[in-house]
Amino acid sequence: MSVKKYIQDNQEKFLNELLDLLRIPSVSADPKFKGDVFAAAEFVRESLEKAGADQVELCQTAGYPIVYGEKIIDPSLPTVLVYGHYDVQPADPYELWDSPPFEPVIKKTARHPEGAIFARGSADDKGQFYMHVKAFEAMMANNDLPCNIKFMIEGEEEVGSEHLDIFVKENKEKLKADVVLVSDTHMISLENPSVTVGLRGLSYMQVEVTGPNRDLHSGTYGGAVANPINILCKMIASLQDENNHITIPGFYDKVEEYSAAYRQALNDAPFDLEAYKKELDINDVHGEAGYSTIERVGIRPTLDVNGIWGGYTGEGAKTVLPSKAYAKISMRLVPNQDHKEISKLFEAHFKSIAPDSVKVKVTPHHGGQAAVVSTDTPGYRAADLAIQEAFGKKAIPTREGGSIPICSLFQQELGLDPILLGFGLDTDALHSPNEHYGVKNYYMGIETIALFFKYFKEQAGK
Ligand code: BES
Ligand code: ZN
Repeated sequence: MSVKKYIQDNQEKFLNELLDLLRIPSVSADPKFKGDVFAAAEFVRESLEKAGADQVELCQTAGYPIVYGEKIIDPSLPTVLVYGHYDVQPADPYELWDSPPFEPVIKKTARHPEGAIFARGSADDKGQFYMHVKAFEAMMANNDLPCNIKFMIEGEEEVGSEHLDIFVKENKEKLKADVVLVSDTHMISLENPSVTVGLRGLSYMQVEVTGPNRDLHSGTYGGAVANPINILCKMIASLQDENNHITIPGFYDKVEEYSAAYRQALNDAPFDLEAYKKELDINDVHGEAGYSTIERVGIRPTLDVNGIWGGYTGEGAKTVLPSKAYAKISMRLVPNQDHKEISKLFEAHFKSIAPDSVKVKVTPHHGGQAAVVSTDTPGYRAADLAIQEAFGKKAIPTREGGSIPICSLFQQELGLDPILLGFGLDTDALHSPNEHYGVKNYYMGIETIALFFKYFKEQAGK
């Protein structure tokens, strides 16, 4: 039997197993789900063992375990290190889901006419990393594993991969490989398959603005004492100018300007602006002047408020001048912008623009560096060839706006450019209510991944 036939014959089993994994609410950000995050790790361990991996273990960290497993068929063959994450984002707000986030259901959508699995983590990243486990199973069952394989599936990606960082630095020999393969990104569509060649970095800050030492009557004091919410809003508004350029001094110093030819190539990728606006129900897009939507997301840094709170937000009206106001602000960064340096620039600038009437506290959260990978590597060529065989089209290289901070760590610590072979779609609602993942994307992904191994063996030419 061929690997392809095995995958086709086992579609239903592969789908049901994924649904079982999706039933585990492995939310790493919320300690309430601690037991479930460990249960998901155990599920991954078992599935790797069943698929035929050796040395399968839960590598304990100060946080959630990293699931490791390998199959070394011949040390002289190339080795592929597969990375993924079994943790998921919180599902809140639950009331905005059409079906419960941890009770997966399959429904058709405009972009998934053959059905999509609706559940938290379906696309990010359970449905995607599990394709690798199933591709491995198929290759093993057919005695047709062309390369050595190592799996490293972590449980803290959604909270900054702090312990993976340490694990990678301490286990370079164990993780030695010829390429890192990651499915945790998007493709343009099944009709226009693509491979991600760039991800943005991230600097994430929390700010606290304090006015008076207690909440005050807004009649007695309003107009005479600084209202920290008013002030915070003004400060945030000033962080971008009328062209949506970020005003933090030094922010753009290391941002690379690309050639007209490079920008044209990015803009040549299929993109339907009208469909994009319609899908989001917006009349117009918004962003930095002088750049297209593809460029704004792929090659330009941004600043966004992720949450803002303070004062009275309950039922009815309460006349209050609050003592404090807060916001969570993230900046998506591009290559060469160091996230720690940007966090410092932000902090200095934010404090400098605060009027004397308030006090400001700035706390950095987790962050990460951007990554750009070359298309001139055996790994990229293997991904392209696998896509050509599975989809009948060449892969389009794309730059995406999301972040996977460990990608730059792989480059630095292991000297490997990760191959970002993702099968989700932009519209799959990652981190949002009603996250979903196309059933066809899942099956095509499994098939393409198995083909990657075939071509990587050829390309790596060992
Ligand atoms: N899978 C995403 C990253 C992603 C999203 C890549 C969309 C390309 C397109 C990943 O799991 C993620 O959400 N990462 C976080 C980073 C973080 C918590 C440090 C992100 O991008 O917000
Ligand atoms: Zn995510």
